[in-house]
Amino acid sequence: EKGGYATFMEKEIHEQPHAVADTLLGRTDEDGRLTLDEVRIDEEELRAVDRIVIVACGTAAYAGMVAKYAIEHWARIQCEVELAHEFRYRDPVLTPHTLVVSISQSGETMDTLMAVKHARSLGAKTVSICNTHGATIPRESDAVLYTHAGPEIAVASTKAFLAQITACYILGLYLAQLHGGAGARNAEEVMRQLQEVPAKITDVLGRMDRVKEIARFMADTRSVLFLGRHVGFPVAMEGALKLKELAYIHAEGFAAGELKHGPIALIEPGQPVFVVVPSPSSPHNLHDKVVSNIQEIRARGARTLVIAEDGDEAVVPFADEVIRVPQAWWMLDPLLTVVPLQVFACELATAKGLDVDQPRNLAKSVTVE
Ligand code: M6R
Repeated sequence: EKGGYATFMEKEIHEQPHAVADTLLGRTDEDGRLTLDEVRIDEEELRAVDRIVIVACGTAAYAGMVAKYAIEHWARIQCEVELAHEFRYRDPVLTPHTLVVSISQSGETMDTLMAVKHARSLGAKTVSICNTHGATIPRESDAVLYTHAGPEIAVASTKAFLAQITACYILGLYLAQLHGGAGARNAEEVMRQLQEVPAKITDVLGRMDRVKEIARFMADTRSVLFLGRHVGFPVAMEGALKLKELAYIHAEGFAAGELKHGPIALIEPGQPVFVVVPSPSSPHNLHDKVVSNIQEIRARGARTLVIAEDGDEAVVPFADEVIRVPQAWWMLDPLLTVVPLQVFACELATAKGLDVDQPRNLAKSVTVE
């Protein structure tokens, strides 16, 4: 049942090319327009949406953070992301023109379900991105976009995360199409580039020997930091979460720009820091800014584990290790850069002899508040 892998998590990491490819399947109608799976809501009402609030928990919330960049960039609709359990109890301001997008692998997470119900009771429209057909959250929502990652058994989410990000891109393009945003004109090109991602993930998976070796050497590490910027910020958060839940190691993800506002004080000789470097094609010189961050922490003794695109030579002088991923359009980077971090956490937990599929104190589906 584990398809020759030692754990479900390893199997699911290797299923990621399929999870992305299947989530992309059948998304356009005969006129080439993007569609959702279930729409129990008037298109006019979706067109009138002037604000989006994404609600989710854990890994799904990090997919939501990626979605914020994509939706605002393509659809030009104000978008915020909130942990579902915080959203529910802070008296959120919602109108009939607010679209609340929930993201959930299981579709049964109580915190997320309560947030969706609350949003509906206040008159907002709701869209669910979900991996489980007919689950409670999609049934409670006005529209649904299913991810097709297949059943995810391991407690730590991997393939569902990549499928969620993919679905978020599709939603961003769909909303751009409805709103006539700039992204609508590029939708076909973005979809074409997304189609190339599964093969690139397979490529990343074929390069993981060194990452696994590094993980095994680090089995006694007490703390690991993760830095990212822009769409790489949620990837850093996800890398830290994977390490906490699987290997029980203290780990924190930061936005690289935040370093000098406090976290750089944590850097001492030998401190391992993963840095998710934006593609050199990223806007606003973000790549160079992050390379400067690597330089700053290295000068203070950090051990830098740098995830960078093929051909990005600027990182080399400041990296103790360079983990390469294939080139991709910057918006799509998270689908590639998160993979080494998943493999790292999985391998390190295995090296510590821990139960990778069933970490302590955790349940796959959190159906209580
Ligand atoms: O089923 P959901 O996507 O709603 O679950 C949300 C979180 O509980 C989940 O992503 C959790 O953070 C995972 N264990 C992360 O690996």
